[in-house]
Amino acid sequence: MSDAGISDAGRKVALITGGGSGIGRASALRFATAGYRVAITDIDPAALADAEAQLVAAGGESLGFPADVADFGACGRVAADVLSIWGRLDALIANAGVQIGGSLLDADDADCDKILAVNLMGVANSCKAVLPAMQEQRSGAIVIVSSINALVGSVGMTLYDMSKAAVLALARSLATEFGTQGIRVNAVCPGNTITDFHINRMAKQGVSVDQIRAMTSGYGLLGRAAEPAEIANAIHFLASEEASFITGQTLVVDGGFSVTGRAQ
Ligand SMILES: NC(=O)c1ccc[n+]([C@@H]2O[C@H](COP(=O)([O-])OP(=O)(O)OC[C@H]3O[C@@H](n4cnc5c(N)ncnc54)[C@H](O)[C@@H]3O)[C@@H](O)[C@H]2O)c1
Repeated sequence: MSDAGISDAGRKVALITGGGSGIGRASALRFATAGYRVAITDIDPAALADAEAQLVAAGGESLGFPADVADFGACGRVAADVLSIWGRLDALIANAGVQIGGSLLDADDADCDKILAVNLMGVANSCKAVLPAMQEQRSGAIVIVSSINALVGSVGMTLYDMSKAAVLALARSLATEFGTQGIRVNAVCPGNTITDFHINRMAKQGVSVDQIRAMTSGYGLLGRAAEPAEIANAIHFLASEEASFITGQTLVVDGGFSVTGRAQ
């Protein structure tokens, strides 16, 4: 029996892509806290091992799978392994993503291929890998992690923005096709969130995390960027029974940034 008093066979299972860092790792912790068994995948084995250790230390039950979401075969093997070990798959958080900045005029084919392979096809691959199990269960919840950049334009982010907008259409389309089979599909659009995404990029310019916080003070209506756990809470809500009548929707979690259009 789990701590929550639910039999082990009845414990829900969440699969989170890009779970080694940032929003994915915070989501893994959130689902573990809610009593889920949590499988995480990541392309970075060191980040994956570190996240797994953190989940276990927090009392969670976790499996880590090194996998590239751009590779459908890898996504399929992860889903099959999770099912063979835990026998069910209740939630997919399609979170793994990369950022490639710069003007479209400077983007080369490799940039375009990479962003579409990870941010668009990686999400589609992850969904395709879990949907047959959810169809068989006649239940399941998918949460796709898009971005506020899907809704609000920004200079020098064209490839990223188009990939994030495309997955909103994917969420709507899957929600439409699979709703009557008990499968809900929603998306979240996080605003600026202080994760390794930004921390590593800024560190190369000699900017510390505290300096990033200072630089983002004034963001949106709350005057600050998000912590990963705040995005994870919204993701968990959409996957949970609390959201049982919500599907095909986009939840904007941006501290009001899109209301003002003001970056800082
Ligand atoms: N941080 C933000 O401000 C922000 C805002 C809006 C949306 N997002 C989105 O949230 C998601 C998570 O971002 P984050 O800020 O936590 O980033 P992060 O870089 O901290 O974490 C992303 C994780 O995904 C993994 N990953 C990258 N490519 C992968 C691949 N091909 N296969 C498997 N794993 C892969 C990375 O190794 C990393 O562990 C992304 O989709 C991002 O676009 C982030």
